[in-house]
Amino acid sequence: MRLPGQAVAVEKRVDRAQRQAFERLAEIELAAHRQELLLDRLAGVDARRGGPFPGEEGDGRGDDAGRDDPTLHAREGTLLPMRVLVTGGAGFIGSQFVRRLVESGDQVAVLDKLTYAGNRANLEGVDHEFHQGDIADADAVARAAEGVEAIVNFAAETHVDRSIMGPAEFILTDVLGTQVLLDYARQHGIRHLQVSTDEVYGDIPLDAEPCTEDAPIRASSPYSASKAGGDLQVLAYVRTYGVDALVTRGANTYGARQYPEKFLPLFITNAFEGQHLPVYGDGKQRREWLHVADHCAGIELALRRGEAGNVYNVGGQERENMDVVRRILDLTGASPDLVRHVADRPGHDRRYSVDSSKLSGLGWQPKHSFDSGGLEETVDWYREHRDWWEPIKSGDYKRYYDEQYAARLA
Ligand code: NAD
Ligand code: DAU
Repeated sequence: MRLPGQAVAVEKRVDRAQRQAFERLAEIELAAHRQELLLDRLAGVDARRGGPFPGEEGDGRGDDAGRDDPTLHAREGTLLPMRVLVTGGAGFIGSQFVRRLVESGDQVAVLDKLTYAGNRANLEGVDHEFHQGDIADADAVARAAEGVEAIVNFAAETHVDRSIMGPAEFILTDVLGTQVLLDYARQHGIRHLQVSTDEVYGDIPLDAEPCTEDAPIRASSPYSASKAGGDLQVLAYVRTYGVDALVTRGANTYGARQYPEKFLPLFITNAFEGQHLPVYGDGKQRREWLHVADHCAGIELALRRGEAGNVYNVGGQERENMDVVRRILDLTGASPDLVRHVADRPGHDRRYSVDSSKLSGLGWQPKHSFDSGGLEETVDWYREHRDWWEPIKSGDYKRYYDEQYAARLA
């Protein structure tokens, strides 16, 4: 016969065992849920939003390749939570990428110099570890990268017009900075993903086929030449030292939190302020427009499933600049009288166009359409977030703006 004291002890042990079993079950369910989430995300299972996928018409990029892809399950290991260093994570695309990783359970350290384009507010409410510093500074990199399994390098000087005003900073960050990161990846045997641009292929004729990843590098501006220099360092480190590194080359990216010196946020915010919309030259240049969420999805997919030594294009929907300007006027209700054709950008590329079928082969499927929702949603974001861009459009920005546009608009 048990004494009451012993009965209580047994009861407590049963309770504890039960609680532990429940906790373990909850952990398993959470892990399974996270895995499902990642698989959905990587295979593009979510319902498409706002009309056709970019590039859908006729080019095979919008088919369902990648859904229910068994190789996703075979490579489950790559879907486990990682600790990742995101450089340039306080910028436009980098901050969106940090959000994305954190939401899916990865741990993120950010290294960002906080140049004029870096903004801590871009990471508000996102659980991350922040290090202010330069990617060209090996000590700063070593501090920020401690314990990471991969580096994703967004850090760069990114604006073509600024590169024309002064290329030196571009070479320091985009080439030397990349090489410093690659040294760290080499020493620690970790993956390096280089976020690059379709601009490295240079401009292509109107009737040319979209560039595949083996198209020649024909950079036109100091910006694209410095990005090309970074790409070549990456590929050289793979071949010479066997570093686990790869490159993505994205198209013109649009969405929330883009610094208002670039075409879309500049024209949208100028339209709201009743200021001129300075179209370079005839405005017949063509760019591919890629939603920032789709760009980040492509980068994440390449990070988890891409192969070392490979380049992956991430394309969008091709539009002529003047068509985009007309859409902005429609969506903002601004007067067409604000449009000014001004002196062209020196060396201005006429057209970019890339073939993303290699990334589609890994399962990438863009979910946003520029015409059906994407641009509109972006215009709405700037309409509703004047508190984000109004403070930026003062001080140093004004000095840059005057240098770039005053004579052109006079
Ligand atoms: P961005 O200009 O908004 O942000 C760049 C970030 O890098 C900023 O936070 C800045 O503070 C940081 N940075 C700059 N120099 C640094 C340094 N030396 N050390 C550490 N941090 C530094 O840029 P973005 O538009 O978000 O572009 C991110 C990356 O994507 C870039 O590499 C760019 O070349 C590439 N890319 C951009 C586009 C686009 O359309 N915006 C398209 C394709 C590829
Ligand atoms: O293609 C990817 C690249 O897209 C990225 O690598 C770059 O970081 C990013 O800046 C962007 O480069 P572009 O030169 O294409 O983008 P930008 O926004 O400067 O210009 C887009 C088009 O709009 C281009 O044809 C120039 C034109 N433009 C731009 C500005 C700023 C104007 O007509 N007027 C302007 O004031």
